Amino acid sequence: MKILIYPDAATASAQTANRIAAKLSSFPHAVLGLATGGTMKPVYAALREHLGRGPAAFTSFNLDEYVGLPPTHPQSYAHYMQTHLFDAIQMPPDQAHLPRGDAADPIAEADNYEVAILAAGGIDLQLLGLGANGHIGFNEPTSSLGSRTRIKTLTHKTVSDNARFFAPGEIVPRLAITMGIGTILDAREILLLATGSGKSQAVAQMVEGPLSAACPASALQLHPRTTILIDVAAAADLRLRDYYDTVHPGGLDDRIA
Ligand code: GLP
Repeated sequence: MKILIYPDAATASAQTANRIAAKLSSFPHAVLGLATGGTMKPVYAALREHLGRGPAAFTSFNLDEYVGLPPTHPQSYAHYMQTHLFDAIQMPPDQAHLPRGDAADPIAEADNYEVAILAAGGIDLQLLGLGANGHIGFNEPTSSLGSRTRIKTLTHKTVSDNARFFAPGEIVPRLAITMGIGTILDAREILLLATGSGKSQAVAQMVEGPLSAACPASALQLHPRTTILIDVAAAADLRLRDYYDTVHPGGLDDRIA
C-alpha cells in the first residue's frame, strides 16, 4: 500500500482527481470504478475541470446503489453521478453503469452487474471512499473478503451516517446492491480517498490493523497497486506516521500515472 498524507482535504481531493485525469489522459478508453459520498464531491468538481465538456471516452461502473430507489430519485447514486460528473462531461449513457436500485429482481441485477464488468474487460482504476466503520462500497463489517456484487443490509451506523443526505423524516434505504470485496480487489489499480477526523480510526484499521472482515477495507492490504490518499486529520491514528512521511513527505509521489 502506498500511503500519501496531505496537509488538508482540499489537497488530497485535488491529488485524487489529478491521478484519475492522468489515467484518462494516457488511456482515454479506460474502465473506471466510481464511488459516491460527500468525500468525492470535490474530486468530481476537479475532474469536471480536467475533462471539460466531453463527450467522455471512458466507461464507468459505480460501486453501489440503494435498493428501491429509481435513478431519478435525488438521493440515488445514479442521480448523484449525473449531478456531480456525468452531465458536465456529456457522459454517453451507455458507457455509465450503476446497479439499478429499482430492478424487479435485485439479485439478478447484481449477478448481471458482475457479468457486465467482465464483459467490459474489468476495471482499470477503482476509486474508493471509506465508511467510518471501515466499509468500502457498501460492504459492511463481516462481509466476505471474497464477496461479489450482491445485496447487503446496511448497518445502523451507515444508515445514520448517510441520513444527512435525505430530507428530514425521509426513510433511508436499509438495503443496497454493492460490488463485493472480491470484485473490488479484481481492479488493476485502486485509489482510496478518506478525509477528516471521522475516518481516522477506520484508516488505521485499514492500513495497520489485521486483515479482517471486521474492517472490510483491510482487504486492500492484499491488493498490489493500491494508493491511499488522506489528509492529516484522517491520518491521526496511524502508528507508523513517521515512516509514511519519510517515504512520501507531504504526500509527494513522483509516480502518479
Ligand atoms: C457510502 C458509500 C461509500 C462511501 C461512504 C463514505 O456508504 N456507499 O462508497 O465511501 O458512504 O461516504 P462519505 O464520503 O460521505 O463519508
